[in-house]
Amino acid sequence: MNVLLLGNGGRENAIAWKIKQSKLLTKLYVAPGNAGTSNIAENINLNLNNFKEISDIIIQKNIDLLIIGSETPLVNGIFDFLKSKKEHKNLLLIGPDKNGATLEGSKDFAKKFMQKYKIPTAKYFTVTKENVDDGIKFLQKLKAPFVLKADGLAAGKGVLIIRNSEEAIIELQNILSGKFGNAGEKVVIEEFLDGIECSVFVLTDGKNFILLPEAKDYKRIGEGNTGLNTGGMGAISPVPFFNEEFKEKTINQIIIPTITGIAEENFDYCGFVFFGLMNVNNNPFVIEYNVRLGDPETEAIMPRIKSDFLQLLIDTANKKTGENEILISAENCATVMLVSRGYPENYETGKTVFGLDEIKESIIFHAGTKIENSEWQNHRQSQVITSGGRVLSVSSVGQDMKEAVQKSYNSIKKIKFEKMYCRNDIGFEFIKKQ
Ligand code: AMP
Ligand code: GLY
Repeated sequence: MNVLLLGNGGRENAIAWKIKQSKLLTKLYVAPGNAGTSNIAENINLNLNNFKEISDIIIQKNIDLLIIGSETPLVNGIFDFLKSKKEHKNLLLIGPDKNGATLEGSKDFAKKFMQKYKIPTAKYFTVTKENVDDGIKFLQKLKAPFVLKADGLAAGKGVLIIRNSEEAIIELQNILSGKFGNAGEKVVIEEFLDGIECSVFVLTDGKNFILLPEAKDYKRIGEGNTGLNTGGMGAISPVPFFNEEFKEKTINQIIIPTITGIAEENFDYCGFVFFGLMNVNNNPFVIEYNVRLGDPETEAIMPRIKSDFLQLLIDTANKKTGENEILISAENCATVMLVSRGYPENYETGKTVFGLDEIKESIIFHAGTKIENSEWQNHRQSQVITSGGRVLSVSSVGQDMKEAVQKSYNSIKKIKFEKMYCRNDIGFEFIKKQ
């Protein structure tokens, strides 16, 4: 089986690493990929918004299975585009169709869906320029803090949590006036849910599902969950509070009604549903849906999946999710992101990364890296250099969280690049005090 995976983050490096272990794989391509994927697959430089270019590569490379790792092409309808072409009638696809992807592409759509299928979520009101006054009335009835969400995709930046109602009203107007571009033509005002977050993932063919390992993402830049929100500074799996009782509630109150909704709405859905959950007094609420895996959660869950992941993807693309069961290791995994200092604001790139060859106890997944080839005294050299804010994720498996976390931080001591930064408290709240 020839597989093409679209994306270039740590998530795609982790998916590629897992698929690479499959006996069913003939050749793996990643587009556009990064320095990490180039070590295990062939990178293809493709523009993920150019569906024609992707279609041509699928034919040229004889691709059997296409995995769409990130949300933008899905929300823009890549699934529908490829499915409508007769030359791709045998292509297996992982991802929802455009309607299904709207669960991530429009927060208002997702809220309406949750309401229709009685899925626990925060109370909300959707505002456009036409009904701002009603929105302000709704907001004034809520308790602080106030949650404002741009309706559309805003590269993870479209959610504001504001303590003061006057400031919230000003920000509401700012979003409607284009602070997040077109993504803010509608704004969802939400009740604040006070709890602990957890990321839960299923693989589904739109009727059946299998539960993947859950994870906890550390979103803030600073230790003790302080400072700006980022794409994720680390992740751990499993999540201790996701115990049997909480898992049952999540399956019955959230996952099953969501899959029922997907079937009833006739979405052509062969892919991932990522439930961003809030645990409020031991009850799960949906904060958001995504139609892809999480980053850096994927880097913490792939090392725990024991089954042939490619087989599970093939089953799903063939609308046979569940035909093969998923085996998950009881071990713990801790992922720490190494980022460029200054991220998520301004940072420098182009720094040489040292020490990667010395890492034995951890798995390194690349996020913002590329290979730079140079010549020095007639010797060809290739170096890994930084090309993004989030640069590398360091994942380690251990018998317990303490061992997993320690292995990751030991490995990090051996890695260097100029202006490297990481949080030093990933997983700490779950390490038993001795
Ligand atoms: P999102 O981009 O939708 O993942 O939201 C970013 C972050 O905002 C989430 O990870 C939560 O930490 C927080 N958040 C979003 N909605 C709520 C809510 N209703 N109550 C509390 N926190 C929220
Ligand atoms: N880690 C959160 C996300 O991938 O959206």
